[in-house]
Amino acid sequence: MAPKLTVIGTGYLGATHAAAMAELGFEVLALDVVPEKIELLTAGRVPMYEPGLEELLAKHVAGIEGSTGRLRFTMDYAEVAEFGDVHFVCVNTPQKHGEYGCDMSFVDAAMESLGKHLTRPALVVGKSTVPVGSADRLAARLAELAPAGEGVELAWNPEFLREGFAVQDTLHPDRIVVGVRGERAEALLREVYATPVAEGTPFVVTDYPTSELVKTAANSFLATKISFINAMAEICEAAGGDVAKLAEAIGYDERIGAKFLRAGVGFGGGCLPKDIRAFMARAGELGVDQALTFLREVDSINMRQRGQAVELAREACGGDFLGKRIGVLGAAFKPDSDDVRDSPALNVAGQIHLQGGQVTVYDPKGMANARRVFPTLGYAESALEAVRGADVVLHLTEWREFRELDAAELGRVVSRRQLIDGRNALDGSVWRAAGWTYRAMGRPRA
Ligand code: UDX
Repeated sequence: MAPKLTVIGTGYLGATHAAAMAELGFEVLALDVVPEKIELLTAGRVPMYEPGLEELLAKHVAGIEGSTGRLRFTMDYAEVAEFGDVHFVCVNTPQKHGEYGCDMSFVDAAMESLGKHLTRPALVVGKSTVPVGSADRLAARLAELAPAGEGVELAWNPEFLREGFAVQDTLHPDRIVVGVRGERAEALLREVYATPVAEGTPFVVTDYPTSELVKTAANSFLATKISFINAMAEICEAAGGDVAKLAEAIGYDERIGAKFLRAGVGFGGGCLPKDIRAFMARAGELGVDQALTFLREVDSINMRQRGQAVELAREACGGDFLGKRIGVLGAAFKPDSDDVRDSPALNVAGQIHLQGGQVTVYDPKGMANARRVFPTLGYAESALEAVRGADVVLHLTEWREFRELDAAELGRVVSRRQLIDGRNALDGSVWRAAGWTYRAMGRPRA
């Protein structure tokens, strides 16, 4: 009989994983400790914008007309422990308040609550991004806690999903990585992931520390790639080069690859920034901080890009934001997401606002979250309204909607036709033809 699965934590990762596992044919029981989340998910809805996820929930959540009924939700750990053969722990691991390290309190609490109810053999699978060494510690803790004793095993199985592509990335991952200690754990995970593996997804089996490190290493590499191209953008600015052409040209080298070479206001979101900081903190604890000193530079280049966007805007405003109107296109940390966590767009908008500029922001999906975290900024219901009367327009999240904007129409409502493309994603020639000065980061002015 197919193993029964549970998912603990129904945030981005957990909600998507639960729905994807139901799609693969498993019976799934998902738990969260927040009643509002459970209520929403039981109705087939999600508290964030993620293309395709609500459709998948509608297809599988029990009680929804026409669904397979394979996916249910609960708040009860005892029910989860009783139900599941494999428990996926998907709670979040935010950055600690005021320091670089990773806050493990949600993972620890989930393991404690689950562990003490495990009266029958089960595999607990950690999916959260954790500092290396956590799985070792948690395996020892589970052995102490679980009434089933040695019948309970732990595995680590990092997740690489991108926001905006969460469903696709979960159902068709690039690779599946499992850190295990025993053959039984590996066999169970092979059963769970049989479909993607049959479709050709590589299945990498390793130990606990390596599996934990794969995730932080992957995110650190991606962050490094972005900061590298942003450093090249600074050089291009100084030397009169064009970073977009440079990225295209180096990207044809297969060893380098064309992806993640878009220069601009840099990376943000709930993963990349906090993961590289937590990685540095952990390396320090392990006494190998030297190995990751370059990540400090990756972080500071990234933050510098935000400052540079502010300076470009200031220059366009004649050296001072006071009395100037700034229209900001974008608030989410990237397109196809409503997530504003550590968003470069919102950070730049906020800096200009705090320096006296009159900022109006519009984002296709991120407005509610942006209003919540930065209520003092001005907001508009459309791109056209956001730029009305603006002395300068900043393009900071590369939504398709912004690429399709009519440069001439916007030109009629602004005070001055000045555009700063902080994402190198708009067609400068079109904007220039409509009478705008188009300025992109790391590109020639003319
Ligand atoms: C990332 C990883 O890609 C994913 O594998 C991991 O599981 C979680 O973290 P995500 O945070 O959803 O996913 O965003 P991603 O698409 O990686 O983009 C991260 C940030 O980098 C965004 O702010 C994006 O705008 C920025 N970025 C990306 C650039 O500035 N330039 C690029 O060329 C690519």
